[in-house]
Amino acid sequence: MADPKRRTVTAALPYANGPIHIGHLAGVYIPADIYVRYWRNKKRDVLFICGSDEHGVAITIKAKKAGQTPQEVVDTYHASIQASLADFGISFDHYTRTSAPIHRQTASDFFSNLYEKGVFKTKTSKQYFDEEAQQFLADRYIVGTCPHCGSAHAYGDQCENCGSSLSPEELINPRSALSGATPVRKTTQHHYLPLERYADWLRKWVLEEHADWKTNVSAQVKSWLDTGLKPRAVTRDLDWGIPVPLPGLENKVLYVWFEAPIGYISATKEWAKKTGRDWTPYWCDTDTELTHFLAKDNIVFHCIIFPSMLKAHGGFILPAQVPANEFLTLENQKISTSKNWAVWLPDYLRDFPGQRDALRYALTANMPETKDNNFSWKDFQTKNNAELVGILGNFINRVVALTHQYCRGIAPGVTSRFSELDRLKLLPKEIGGFIERFEFRNALRSFMELPRMGNAFLQEQEPWKKIKTQPEAVEDSIYVALQIAAAIAYLSEPFLPHTAEKLKDILHLKALSWDEVAAADLIPKGRPIDKAQLLFRKITVSEIDAQMEKLMGTQRENTTTPLRAER
Ligand code: 2FM
Ligand code: ZN
Repeated sequence: MADPKRRTVTAALPYANGPIHIGHLAGVYIPADIYVRYWRNKKRDVLFICGSDEHGVAITIKAKKAGQTPQEVVDTYHASIQASLADFGISFDHYTRTSAPIHRQTASDFFSNLYEKGVFKTKTSKQYFDEEAQQFLADRYIVGTCPHCGSAHAYGDQCENCGSSLSPEELINPRSALSGATPVRKTTQHHYLPLERYADWLRKWVLEEHADWKTNVSAQVKSWLDTGLKPRAVTRDLDWGIPVPLPGLENKVLYVWFEAPIGYISATKEWAKKTGRDWTPYWCDTDTELTHFLAKDNIVFHCIIFPSMLKAHGGFILPAQVPANEFLTLENQKISTSKNWAVWLPDYLRDFPGQRDALRYALTANMPETKDNNFSWKDFQTKNNAELVGILGNFINRVVALTHQYCRGIAPGVTSRFSELDRLKLLPKEIGGFIERFEFRNALRSFMELPRMGNAFLQEQEPWKKIKTQPEAVEDSIYVALQIAAAIAYLSEPFLPHTAEKLKDILHLKALSWDEVAAADLIPKGRPIDKAQLLFRKITVSEIDAQMEKLMGTQRENTTTPLRAER
């Protein structure tokens, strides 16, 4: 869509079964936030929604292990996740939770709509049942010996020792993780979404009509389609979730991956109610562009299952873009909740107070856009010390200090033309183009041209040498440097929102749209400039050593204790 009337932007709903980590931030929330902030700066109508994903087996397993109720677990982590994301400046218009009554209603109604249209198939199958606990066992609740590597700790869906995907029937000597009893096979009936019926439409819709999607996304969709789509059960025998709204089936719940994406719609309804707006244009008008941000393990749900559901329901728009990212690794190892191999955001916020933009910067520079990418503490330190402190912070300090030293803290005018000013006018479009194409690393690189250019300019002009002989040349240099500083303040906002705010204060900038930055005299003659305040601080070797020591401790622990359940 060339220039849609409005944008609905979603970020994958995080599971409320643990705190949030840097992999989530780099993969989903930072790219989504940069995108949304950019469009807001362009004065476009954009709605950014998210919320906690509070149902499913992941939560019940966590609750059992913690000796808590599922409700207690989700209450704790919903609050923790929401606070961490807010702290990092992820600027949702609304953050909800799938336990919200409006979501239960919306998801139930969606299911009923499809049921009444005769979309679902029902199928009876035999599934493992724990007679002691008197309940059917989700795949993750069945443990046994892996038929591939012989590990005695494989789960019914996966062996974490050799990485094989499994089905519960393949496990040798299966046992219930709830009671330890040997489960029996018992007949149960479920409703299935017949995905195979949508295969031809999906192939055309994704592979032909959306040939502009990222190759990692279309390649995964193609592979699913080539393998052949099968009916997917959308109900589950579980006692935690949204009850199936059919008489006699109230003891079953909706499959978490059926109801969670509907959470985007419920969140929009809740936002509309709160703000007195109408939610329908954001989901039903064809001049709205819908974009889903997520990581690669969520591609099938957002590019195959949810679109099939929306199509079956009718009346909703479909995603125009699904710019999924690959995974972030930590010190070259897969981030793993069960192995505690992660940098948890609450820990980072405690250990590096006030340095949220430093992490945003490092994660954007290393974003796993086209392939898995690595985060290392050493690289984080270099990015912070050499780039944020050494280039960006240094330039701002220099220009502010020069303004105070030679112009009594008042912005001067300009008498000559400078190529830097011409370049400045091109950058908003260039950076914006990258953001619009979901090339966030390139966008950040392009943005960093500003402080690099500023430092080079001051180095070349050397106003400190000309002050005696050419005072008007000094004023010219300071004028140009201040224009660059102002452009930094405006254009850093999507990437480094906390820094942008401080800079706008120092330079007394008025609100401008992204496009106006290219056109305006950003700091006119006579504008007072504040004294510099600390934007970034150096991160010391001992701080990095402490983080590495923490990870090494985790690694030592993992070699001596068995894994905790991850999902
Ligand atoms: O992978 C996850 O963390 C899921 N909780 C994402 C859900 S996204 C959506 F569709 F709700
Ligand atoms: Zn195995």
